[in-house]
Amino acid sequence: MTQPQPSSTLSEAIRKHKEFLFPAVATYYQEPIALTRGEGEFVWDDQGNRYLDAFGGVLTVSVGHANPEINKAWIGQVNTIAHTSTLYANKPQGDLAEKLAQITPGDLKRSFFTSSGTEADDTAHMVAKIATGRHEIVVLRHSYSGRSATALSSVGHSTWRPLPSQVAGIVHAMAPYCYRCPFGATPDNCGAACANDIEEVIQTTTTGQIAAFMAEPILGVGGFIVPPPGYFERAYEIARNHGGLCISDEVQTGWGRTGDKWFGIEHWGVTPDIMTSAKGMGNGVPIGWTITTDEIAATYPGLTFATFGGNPVSMAVGLAVVNYIEENDLRTNARVVGDYFRGKLDELKDKYQVIGDVRGLGLMQGIELVKDRTTKEPDPQSVLKVFEETKRQGVLIGKGGLYGNVIRTGMMLNTTKDSVDQLIAALDAGLALC
Ligand SMILES: Cc1ncc(COP(=O)(O)O)c(C=O)c1O
Repeated sequence: MTQPQPSSTLSEAIRKHKEFLFPAVATYYQEPIALTRGEGEFVWDDQGNRYLDAFGGVLTVSVGHANPEINKAWIGQVNTIAHTSTLYANKPQGDLAEKLAQITPGDLKRSFFTSSGTEADDTAHMVAKIATGRHEIVVLRHSYSGRSATALSSVGHSTWRPLPSQVAGIVHAMAPYCYRCPFGATPDNCGAACANDIEEVIQTTTTGQIAAFMAEPILGVGGFIVPPPGYFERAYEIARNHGGLCISDEVQTGWGRTGDKWFGIEHWGVTPDIMTSAKGMGNGVPIGWTITTDEIAATYPGLTFATFGGNPVSMAVGLAVVNYIEENDLRTNARVVGDYFRGKLDELKDKYQVIGDVRGLGLMQGIELVKDRTTKEPDPQSVLKVFEETKRQGVLIGKGGLYGNVIRTGMMLNTTKDSVDQLIAALDAGLALC
């Protein structure tokens, strides 16, 4: 394969991006890439370079770019009817809602569709407040929720908070970040101290009775932080003891991403009262989703409406994605190829001191880079070096973490061991430069 060539002049797309978009809309790489085409696991830039897309536009292209089966549903729906608003029923919305009631855990049954993860999380906050009559919500440090006033107030990263909290009553408990345990403990001796912190936060910073506890089963933007065993059982127990509903934010962890299960929370032995998702559910169409029980949904008074919520195009695509994952057994593929990938990442950790931690589940795997394994000083500069070299090798990866020192990957759910080998070879070349 020919390696991507650096372009000497900025492409038209990049020049306009730099001139006309908010400067805050940052792009990856010293020389940004403008993508023009995608097919399966590959994308092409406007210089004609091909890349293995190992990030999927942030875990969003879940079953391949321009997947013919998904596109058939997509284009078919565009050619039939593209918009109705929720004032009229539409078949794809009903079919998708029915399917989701079947595959979600517990008594989750009633869906509300929107266009983004932000709106999905906002809806969850609203429903929890209405159902409980209370207003305080416990979220986690290092979490991410989006850009609205509510979501922004929930985000647990200063880097993603351009404004202070806009909504009162949202409080942040410690993250279950074992590699950087806020209590200086290890998973075998901690006694779930981070989960117990939820109780302390409720007792010291709220009225003592909360509307909800909301958490991602693996903190995505936070750098694929995987909680220790028992964390969620204790966290949900505490939240419920204080009157709270439990919300699982599955924006990144849903749809088989973590292997074997449809949803990340199913790995942790608890059942949420409300669940949200977006991203990989639509393989690229704007979509947001909140699901709860009959009982909780029934408490929502009066009217609610989202112009593009449940639009037939997103719904038809969402249904096609869920069916595609099911029919091709991609939850198993995420576990099998994910385990293979993890083995290879662990080998890289043995080879390179700069890797402090490898973590994740299924096809949600990340590596945290540090300057020193003892001090664990974050090494975002090495992440940038790996970025430039993997790009040169024709592979796109992602990053995250509060310190920008975690390499995140989000390969397609229908990826293969061969593609993993290509990604590993590129990471190996990049890490060799650190
Ligand atoms: C866990 C989580 N929740 C919510 C969101 C917000 O989603 P959106 O960007 O679609 O509004 C994101 C986005 O990255 C996310 O990772």
